Amino acid sequence: RSTDGQLNVRLEASPVSVPLGGLQASILGYNGGVPGPTLRVRGGDTLQIELVNNLGVPTNLHVHGLHVSPQGNGDNVFVMVPPGQSFSYEHRLPADHPSGTYWYHPHHHGMVADQVSAGLFGAIIVEEEDAPAVSRERILVVSDITLDGSGALAEATPMDRMLGREGRLVLVNGHSNPELSARPGERERWRIVNTCVARYLRLRLDGQQWELLGIDLARFPTPQTVDEVLLAPGNRADVLVTATAGVSALRTSYYNRGSMAGMMGRAARGPDGTGDLVLATFSVSGTPATAPPASPPMPARPAPEDLRNAVVAARRQLTLATGTGMGMGMGMMSFTINGRTFDPDRTDTVVAAGTVEEWTLLNPSPMDHPFHLHVWPMQVVEEAGTAPDSATWRDVVNIPANGQVKVRISFTGFTGRSVYHCHILDHEDQGMMGVIDVR
Ligand code: C2O
Ligand code: CU
Ligand code: CU
Repeated sequence: RSTDGQLNVRLEASPVSVPLGGLQASILGYNGGVPGPTLRVRGGDTLQIELVNNLGVPTNLHVHGLHVSPQGNGDNVFVMVPPGQSFSYEHRLPADHPSGTYWYHPHHHGMVADQVSAGLFGAIIVEEEDAPAVSRERILVVSDITLDGSGALAEATPMDRMLGREGRLVLVNGHSNPELSARPGERERWRIVNTCVARYLRLRLDGQQWELLGIDLARFPTPQTVDEVLLAPGNRADVLVTATAGVSALRTSYYNRGSMAGMMGRAARGPDGTGDLVLATFSVSGTPATAPPASPPMPARPAPEDLRNAVVAARRQLTLATGTGMGMGMGMMSFTINGRTFDPDRTDTVVAAGTVEEWTLLNPSPMDHPFHLHVWPMQVVEEAGTAPDSATWRDVVNIPANGQVKVRISFTGFTGRSVYHCHILDHEDQGMMGVIDVR
């Protein structure tokens, strides 16, 4: 990032060969590695990305969660970059863009799950004006992948596509169980990105003190002391860790995200049958360090406007449903929002620019669906029947099986066409996506 507020990057999407799980794996990556480079920007910056497609199939690039214009080349669902070609994206962040951890990934409809699970993803950090003082910051990009015996990507099965594929290898920054080391007393900031196609992360870091600063974007008014953090596919956690001597495992435990009625149960359990997996090992030893003085807790500046007392211009319901119709073949299912599958030429939701809406997101299906809206952040106003006691924003909101969540959205800043969809990318690829037009 240069001082004039411009970040120019070239991202080359290509086949890569990396050692993984005892094999030489043939996967995909940006600029020769997995994950792709971390992009750091600030409100007011322009992010210029030259995407080069060396994949042999179409792709494109989406900046997940960024509050940037969907016009022109901005909304990446509608842009296709053919094999062998490149494409230049320009994203101008408004000066008051919410700080937080975001990410980028391909969004070419029908191929998203395949390309993301193969290794195409990277983190984007929007820095805040008042970052908490820490000894070190780590970005932990979590992904999962399944390889066949020769190190090639395993083909997803019809069952994988229905339930959402969960890879057998779970990686942090492209490695299985990396060791992170620190000295006692050090304070670290961890930004954890769940890039998995369908795997939920239920994270614990036993033996350490960790506090949740926020999820996705912005921060809570005060850090929250937590035992466990749940990240649906696409979510990110911003965590403060105060290192205590000893060896701790960052683990994810089994999360029951439901299944399809009449189908075999989930296979989302670890090799020990409990569903517990170690993502990384945190080793704290050596001479105690003096951590930088703690900054007074306060919400990050800038943060989006709290919508709990806003005037609501329209209320809508969006129903995320799965179906097995009569006449649909074995292994055939429908994934719909308000009864329809994605059609890029149809507009499903028209919103008046500048207004605040309240959306009730309903999930009558027997499995969870993480709902994602591009461009405009969602403020959760009712979850599990209760209102959160502080302002809580997300760009991916999990809608539990047979459950509902209410969100409010301020459609400010931009006009144009964009999308909302289930972030189980297999469901998205099968059409659980709708088009929104803000005008
Ligand atoms: Cu992370 Cu429309 O996606
Ligand atoms: Cu997105
Ligand atoms: Cu889904």
